[in-house]
Amino acid sequence: MSSTDVPTDGPVWAIVLAAGSGRRYGPHPKQYEFLGSERVVDRSLAIARAAADHVVVVLGPGEEAEGARLVESGAADVAVEGGEERSDSVRAALGVIDEDAAVIVVHDAARPLATAELHQAVVAVVHGGADAAIPAVPVTDTIKRVTHDEHGDLVASATLDRSELVAVQTPQAFRADALRAAHAHGGSATDDAALVEQAGGRVVIVAGEATNIKITGPMDLAVAIVLLGTLG
Ligand code: CTP
Ligand code: MG
Repeated sequence: MSSTDVPTDGPVWAIVLAAGSGRRYGPHPKQYEFLGSERVVDRSLAIARAAADHVVVVLGPGEEAEGARLVESGAADVAVEGGEERSDSVRAALGVIDEDAAVIVVHDAARPLATAELHQAVVAVVHGGADAAIPAVPVTDTIKRVTHDEHGDLVASATLDRSELVAVQTPQAFRADALRAAHAHGGSATDDAALVEQAGGRVVIVAGEATNIKITGPMDLAVAIVLLGTLG
């Protein structure tokens, strides 16, 4: 993959993904839950806005009125409808990003506590020459590979070397051409860096933030509210 011939000093675009259905969270869409006085999606958009020239918000089907409000308020420059899988939602956003975009940051709305400094840090590493920059934190649990045995029981088949593992977060920043190339032939992954890795791109890790949790299950919103109180 080309990595140094296209300048990265042009416009920075952020994609904020809020088109998921939050099946693990519960009955309410997690992106519209309140964190203090603002919703999860509003906080994620405001922080992405602080580090990008343009912001695309990706929303679920039937959320056109919500998208119009977010654009009207200036929280986003454009709203698009997402797709079935997270990667489909990213591709929907790529379809509305200007050709002259130099760096594209992909962020999960479900991580409302990522700081503007983290957004700026990943962009800076791409400006420095990486195809992609992603935040990660050390893994503290012991991680095992599991399988089912002949009795149907869940059993451990291997214990992975924790020193070689990290837990990856968003925001993830990409050279725009690297991200577009990685998505050019479809594909699905739980993050975009996986597609860039598969395409042979150089993905640089930056220090993530322990407080940058993803709201996944019902407990996570409560944790995020407590963390917000300590972060200020
Ligand atoms: N997302 C998206 N489009 C999809 C799936 C996910 O924009 N088709 C977004 C979610 O809104 C979320 C982020 O990607 O901000 C990370 O996904 P995840 O935490 O898995 O959220 P959901 O897919 O909504 O939740 P679940 O997997 O529990 O259904
Ligand atoms: Mg999901």
